Amino acid sequence: MTDINKLYDSIAYCNKCILSKTRNTIVFGKGSQNPDIVFIGEAPGSDEDKLGLPFVGRSGKLLDKWINKYNLSLDNIYIMNAIKCRPPKNRDPLPEEKNACREYFEKQLEILKPKIICALGKHALSNLIDFSVSSKYSDMRGALHTYKNIPVVATYHPAFILRSPQSAEKVYDDFELLLKTMNN
Ligand code: URA
Repeated sequence: MTDINKLYDSIAYCNKCILSKTRNTIVFGKGSQNPDIVFIGEAPGSDEDKLGLPFVGRSGKLLDKWINKYNLSLDNIYIMNAIKCRPPKNRDPLPEEKNACREYFEKQLEILKPKIICALGKHALSNLIDFSVSSKYSDMRGALHTYKNIPVVATYHPAFILRSPQSAEKVYDDFELLLKTMNN
């Protein structure tokens, strides 16, 4: 499959895991179909589940701020999640839910072919490289990782920064690494 809209059509009514019973709609992704950067979050929250778009709630507003600060926009980036359906009460996605969704995640990245990927938190990173969600995430920042020959930079999830605003500067360091790597 080479077309992102066809991929969406093929999974819009997915019922491979239990999240399909409680979700309102799948949250596929938004942005350029030929992106320089793909940002990957964890899973939709309640606002996203209502609207069918990723990062439209409080975390999304903060992500928008980071994106605007570096003169990026949905014209040159794409935003998606590790899993496509909202876990009830925003609990962590279970390994079996991530596994059920993994095929879609891989296909989506295969079609989008970004120059670089930015993982927003441990659930995104663990879908990209050999990393256990029980490991220390902060150690994964500041280095380049690789997913199928695509460089990957890890930064904090916006929800974490909303709770710990003193770490916001670290996100800016990560964005600088992201852009420097992309432009090299
Ligand atoms: N948090 C995420 O990880 N993804 C969203 O789409 C919204 C909040």
